[in-house]
Amino acid sequence: MNILMITSSPHPQDASSSTLLAEHFARGAQEAGHTVTFFDAGHANLHPCLGCGHCGTAGSCIHKDDMAQARAAILSCDMLVFVTPLYYFGMAAQLKTLVDRFYAFNEELMGKKLKAALLTAAWDSEDWIMQALVSHYQTICRYLNFQDMGMILGLGCGTPAMTAASGFPEKACEFGRRL
Ligand SMILES: Cc1cc2nc3c(=O)[nH]c(=O)nc-3n(C[C@H](O)[C@H](O)[C@H](O)COP(=O)(O)O)c2cc1C
Repeated sequence: MNILMITSSPHPQDASSSTLLAEHFARGAQEAGHTVTFFDAGHANLHPCLGCGHCGTAGSCIHKDDMAQARAAILSCDMLVFVTPLYYFGMAAQLKTLVDRFYAFNEELMGKKLKAALLTAAWDSEDWIMQALVSHYQTICRYLNFQDMGMILGLGCGTPAMTAASGFPEKACEFGRRL
């Protein structure tokens, strides 16, 4: 499988808890024979959807930015992995900005029937803190005909050091290896 991982932390790669989970997932998936590529929405030049209707949900976007590269990568992958820090109980704006830009190729994306996964890192440890993000992710999967392959909900992963000690990187690696 061609797996595309969309990371979205604004932290540098080596200082990001969610990217640490993504790297472990990627290692497991590569060990299982999959091809893994990354798109860094956290540092890409991405503009929010203007709702202008220029694309007609199946055309070119008015914005000329890094979404062209992301769009091509999304439409040629078999599995999309959403990677995000938990920001106010949802995905980071950097990832939501990219997701909203799905609008320009909405039906094409629905027809791809992609596999999907969610990897997230949060500071807190109460299980309820992930509910809104999980519900949003599952609703996106349902609408876009994505097949959810699983989630790594990194509770108590507030820094890379906390994450490394949490056991979630090993779970992410095992998840990738199981695919
Ligand atoms: C704007 C902002 C909002 C946050 N919201 C939450 C939150 O709702 N719950 C939580 O447990 N942690 C929250 N955090 C903490 C981050 O999710 C946590 O530090 C995470 O490890 C960051 O991952 P990253 O290094 O990949 O960006 C927030 C951090 C920021 C900067």
